[in-house]
Amino acid sequence: MKRRRFLGHLAAGAVGGTLAAPAAAAAASSPAATASTTGPLVVTPLVLMAPRPDGLEAVWAVSRLCRGRLEWQGEDGTTGMAATDPFGFVPQGAKLLRVRLGGLLPGRAYRVRAVTSATEGDATETTPWKPFRTLDPQGASTSFVVWNDTHVNDATLRELHEQTPAADFLLWNGDTCNDWKSDDLLVPTLLHPGRCDITSGRPLNLVWGNHDVRGQHAYAMPGLVATPSGRPFYAFRSGPVAFICLHTGEDKPDSHPGFGGRVAFDALRREQAGWLAETIRRPEFAAAPYRVVFCHIPLRWRDESPQDYARGGFDRHSGRSRAAWHDALVAWKTQVIISGHTHQTHWMPPTAEFPYGQLIGGGPATRGARAATWMDGRADARRLQLVVRDLDRRVIHDVELPPLA
Ligand SMILES: [Fe+2]
Ligand SMILES: [Fe+2]
Repeated sequence: MKRRRFLGHLAAGAVGGTLAAPAAAAAASSPAATASTTGPLVVTPLVLMAPRPDGLEAVWAVSRLCRGRLEWQGEDGTTGMAATDPFGFVPQGAKLLRVRLGGLLPGRAYRVRAVTSATEGDATETTPWKPFRTLDPQGASTSFVVWNDTHVNDATLRELHEQTPAADFLLWNGDTCNDWKSDDLLVPTLLHPGRCDITSGRPLNLVWGNHDVRGQHAYAMPGLVATPSGRPFYAFRSGPVAFICLHTGEDKPDSHPGFGGRVAFDALRREQAGWLAETIRRPEFAAAPYRVVFCHIPLRWRDESPQDYARGGFDRHSGRSRAAWHDALVAWKTQVIISGHTHQTHWMPPTAEFPYGQLIGGGPATRGARAATWMDGRADARRLQLVVRDLDRRVIHDVELPPLA
């Protein structure tokens, strides 16, 4: 069941549909953000996230207490505005604004812009129009692109941004950061990575990695990141492909002293197992021609030796997640699990024991053994093709999967 929540100073507007906006008090209450009284109001690109058949969610950072709204235009001449939140407020915030746009039609071209006004004074800024397409669950084809493990490497992010084409969505598959040790890291890392407008031409879906949950301020990240469900696990259809996104949690047990008692991922894995068992029975997922899972930590790896966590060991594959989800993933006939985390791109074909393939992207470096890769996914009635390229534009893996139905 979807729920509406509104906490702290987070601005969240909605037109139609429902909203789940997790806590963002830390993200929205920086002294630096409230101290400024001059200069630009809008300090990041308008970031388009969580694309849906009926809309998406937009997040942008501001320099001081502001009100905001989204204006939209459709290719069919329709126009509209999203200018309220679920509690009847005009969207407002001192550090970021977040507005949910709904009521649109699937598979259509739209453009959107944000209008931001300072609460004190008469300063107003309007962003350029930004085009996007709503997802089309009935579409004959889809395209998507995947990044992982960027770890705040600006050179890598800029090269990925330059080389990655437009698509129905960009899936950022975890480890956006290293350690959220400061609240001030959240906005530049998530909303202006590498100082690029990464959602230009490709609205963003984000999957949490183990570094995204690390550090004293990691709990505030959901305030800046919209997902289709308002939770870190979600499922959606784009054309003939059904996608399930899961949160593999940390790469050590919850009780590890390095986590300081901050994490409870065993419970989240169990909750996802129950949700997964229900989700794979929904008609649009049970009958999908192609079935893809995104999760940051792989569920398979070439060396699955036990780790000595007390001596610096950590999981290359998430055995805890696999134990919780494997049976449902097999029952669903999952074709491929797309992950990151190991910083070494790798393809593991299906086996009798693991009938899902495991495709893993590269690391945060621009060149060398830990080099970054990006994935280009395209599906139509004949095949799902997944091509992994490095930043020298070489094809590292080229995986083709036939339709199941
Ligand atoms: Fe990583
Ligand atoms: Fe990782």
